[in-house]
Amino acid sequence: MKILVLGSGGREHALLHWLSKDENIAKLWVSPGNGGTGDLAESVEFSDNSFEEIFSFCKQRGIDFLIPGPEQPLVDGIADYFSSKQSETFVLGPHKSGAMLEASKSFSKEFMRQYKVPCAKSRSFDAHNLDEAYAFLEGMTAPYVLKADGLAAGKGVLIIEDLNKAKNALQDMLINQRFGLASERVLIEAFLLGKEFSVFIFTNGKDYLLLPEAKDYKRIGEGDTGLNTGGMGSISPVPFFNNKLKEKVEKQIIEPTLKGIQDRKLNYCGFLFFGMIEVDGEPYVIEYNARMGDPETQSVLPRIVTPASNMLLAVKNGTLNALNLEISPTSCCSVVAVSGGYPEAYKKFKEITINEVDEIIFHAGTKIVDNKLLTNGGRVLSSTSFGLNQEDALKKCYQQLKQVSFEDCYYRKDIGKDIL
Ligand code: AMP
Ligand code: GLY
Repeated sequence: MKILVLGSGGREHALLHWLSKDENIAKLWVSPGNGGTGDLAESVEFSDNSFEEIFSFCKQRGIDFLIPGPEQPLVDGIADYFSSKQSETFVLGPHKSGAMLEASKSFSKEFMRQYKVPCAKSRSFDAHNLDEAYAFLEGMTAPYVLKADGLAAGKGVLIIEDLNKAKNALQDMLINQRFGLASERVLIEAFLLGKEFSVFIFTNGKDYLLLPEAKDYKRIGEGDTGLNTGGMGSISPVPFFNNKLKEKVEKQIIEPTLKGIQDRKLNYCGFLFFGMIEVDGEPYVIEYNARMGDPETQSVLPRIVTPASNMLLAVKNGTLNALNLEISPTSCCSVVAVSGGYPEAYKKFKEITINEVDEIIFHAGTKIVDNKLLTNGGRVLSSTSFGLNQEDALKKCYQQLKQVSFEDCYYRKDIGKDIL
């Protein structure tokens, strides 16, 4: 089996690592990849991520599966394009119609409402009904949650304590297009106070395998303080995701979501990620993502024992129900090391040294130039470890990080501590 993965982050390195463990997978390519992916996959570059070039490459090389890591190619219709060409390469990911679950928050909210998927109360507004939006805000209680409708690189959600500041931010989003076209429409949503976690399924749009759950740590500072980031670490399993909560998530959230996908004929396959929050024992969906999470992938995929090729073929052939997913009971944790200053301005191209390590280093913002490994992004790499339990896995992650050095390296020392 031959596979091409699109993307350059820690998630994509973890996808390649997962695929490379399977001896039925003969060859891996990645586009563009990063400084750590070269051991697992051959890098290939396409100009402006041109679908035409990607399609020709897949055809020439006889690639069986194309796996887009991030959402953008899916939202832009890469699966639709391959379908229109009657490609023999199977795209693991939804068509545009299915990717709308991530691409538009007002679409996904309306979907959740129709299929009775528990979520926070909300309404969406555009520049034409700013006064109504102000009135709606006045009727809510603090903190106020404002969400840009479209994709905003994970930065489109604002949580604001003060009503006047919330009104100003709303105006900034709708009138001044603070997030460009993504904030032409804004959702005002009730604030949910609870514990966040991430649930993933592997699906053909009808049947599904429940993958290991995870929890990510989004804030830059310890104790969940400071600015939001792409993610500073993740743990799997999540201790509070007990059987009772799992059953509720399957019955109240996953099943109605898949019913809606079929009902509306959304073309969906691949990973579906439910960003969740548990409030007094009840699960609510914060968002859908049409892809795996980053950095959750780094602690989820290493726990899957079932060969990747069996899962890919089962999705392609519609035989997911016959597949028994084997998950390792061990804990897997990942701690992200970033360049000082991130998520604001930071320096690039600093040399990285990595001494002998026992477990896994997933690269993200790294690059090899003249045989030297350099930083090439805010989130540089993640130290990932297994353990008999979470405490043990985290201890190993932190020990392993001592083997990594680059100028102004920063990582949170408290990943997983809140639920130990
Ligand atoms: P999102 O981009 O939708 O994942 O939102 C970013 C973050 O904002 C989430 O991870 C939550 O921490 C927070 N958030 C989003 N919606 C809500 C909500 N309704 N109540 C509380 N926190 C929220
Ligand atoms: N870790 C959250 C995300 O990938 O969106």
